[in-house]
Amino acid sequence: MEKLVVTGPTPLKGEVIINGAKNAAVAILPATLLIDGCCTIENLPNISDIKISCEILEKLGAKITWNSKNSITVDTTNIITTKAPLDLTSKFRASYYVIGAMLGRMGEIEVGMPGGCKLGARPIDQHIKGFELLGANVTVEKGTIYAKAKKLKGCPIYMDIVSVGATINVMLASVLAKGTTIIDNAAKEPHIVDVANFLNTMGADIRGAGTDVIKINGVEKLHGNATYSVVPDQIEAGTFMLAAVATRGDITLKNCITKHLESITAKIIEVGGNVQDNGDSIRVWCNKRPSKANIKTLPYPGFPTDLQPQMGVVLSIANGTSMITESIWESRFQYTEELNKMGAQITAHGKNAFFEGVKKLSGAPVYSTDLRAGAALVIAGAVAEGTTEIYNLEHIDRGYEDIEGKFRKIGAKIKRVTE
Ligand code: UD1
Repeated sequence: MEKLVVTGPTPLKGEVIINGAKNAAVAILPATLLIDGCCTIENLPNISDIKISCEILEKLGAKITWNSKNSITVDTTNIITTKAPLDLTSKFRASYYVIGAMLGRMGEIEVGMPGGCKLGARPIDQHIKGFELLGANVTVEKGTIYAKAKKLKGCPIYMDIVSVGATINVMLASVLAKGTTIIDNAAKEPHIVDVANFLNTMGADIRGAGTDVIKINGVEKLHGNATYSVVPDQIEAGTFMLAAVATRGDITLKNCITKHLESITAKIIEVGGNVQDNGDSIRVWCNKRPSKANIKTLPYPGFPTDLQPQMGVVLSIANGTSMITESIWESRFQYTEELNKMGAQITAHGKNAFFEGVKKLSGAPVYSTDLRAGAALVIAGAVAEGTTEIYNLEHIDRGYEDIEGKFRKIGAKIKRVTE
């Protein structure tokens, strides 16, 4: 078993280079299934979700060549099966993108229900509704999803809720459909725009990604033969921004899109931190105890749920009592029990958690309950006096490339230990 051992307190200072976005990359890889040919994807984060995505593509018949640790060439000329490997697809959430892509390319797919972080109920009814409106027959039996269509036909699709996954999945299914699909009440996250940009680079005709109405004119085929670089990771950038505030440090992030970080910047300024926006880099520093603030997680451009635990660390040591309202996931406060083991005083009730700010945290053994909770505990370890041991690293490794290397580079006393 591996654990991260962090000894603090340490103000984190220095430069961090942000990787490509996990949530864009895990959609772009299955999107390559729509191409009858080759394409090269660069700025891929080197994380376990990407390695599993590649294995799934290979099992379906794709040939993958690693050009470097962050770049691959995918050849999807030959697809040899419409059965996705159940053991691999159950390992992470975004495996559901195989459904949209394979319905578009092959008109058929059999895949296990997706896995991923346990953040509460994670239904996929909006994905299924979209596929059915496009003309697919979808059934779910004993944890397996079967989807089949003779020829998908574009149509208007109104999403009952704003869903990142359903928006991307329906976009994937409709790229090669006959006619025009209009997704209304679409999600607007940067990774949705990135997947649309990738598909358009390969010959798709998608307009409006990044707004709540996306129009997809079906095309005959996607040509490939192009190179695409994944958008910088908004959530990884936000994680380090909040690490700077929590540890009273000074961190400059390179390779980020500051426009995507506005909701985080606003909250950092509200709690007394400083932000200098340089366009493609951003500097965040803080030299005093953060002040209290109230946060409500919302779909983009609101404050992202995937930065809620990291913000929770900042509020746990803020001056005064803060409240976080989690409006996306019902079980996203599990990390607060771990922070309480470190001396935080947080009470979670349903959608709300109250953070009675304490002056300091103390090191303790803690468990990463999901991906972003794990990142929050690494920050908490750098804030706390003494030694923090963080277990369940498989969550963190799904979404952060070399987390200990990056934190070490900015001064954290952190090491990975195998027990
Ligand atoms: C994606 C992100 C995840 C992030 C989340 C919200 C990926 C791989 N994961 O997850 O990190 O926390 O967006 O920003 O990109 N819902 C339904 N029916 C559906 C689909 C969703 O009711 O068919 C609900 C969910 O239960 C949730 C809300 O809609 O309450 C938002 O979910 P969604 O945006 O779909 O999240 P994911 O795509 O799973």
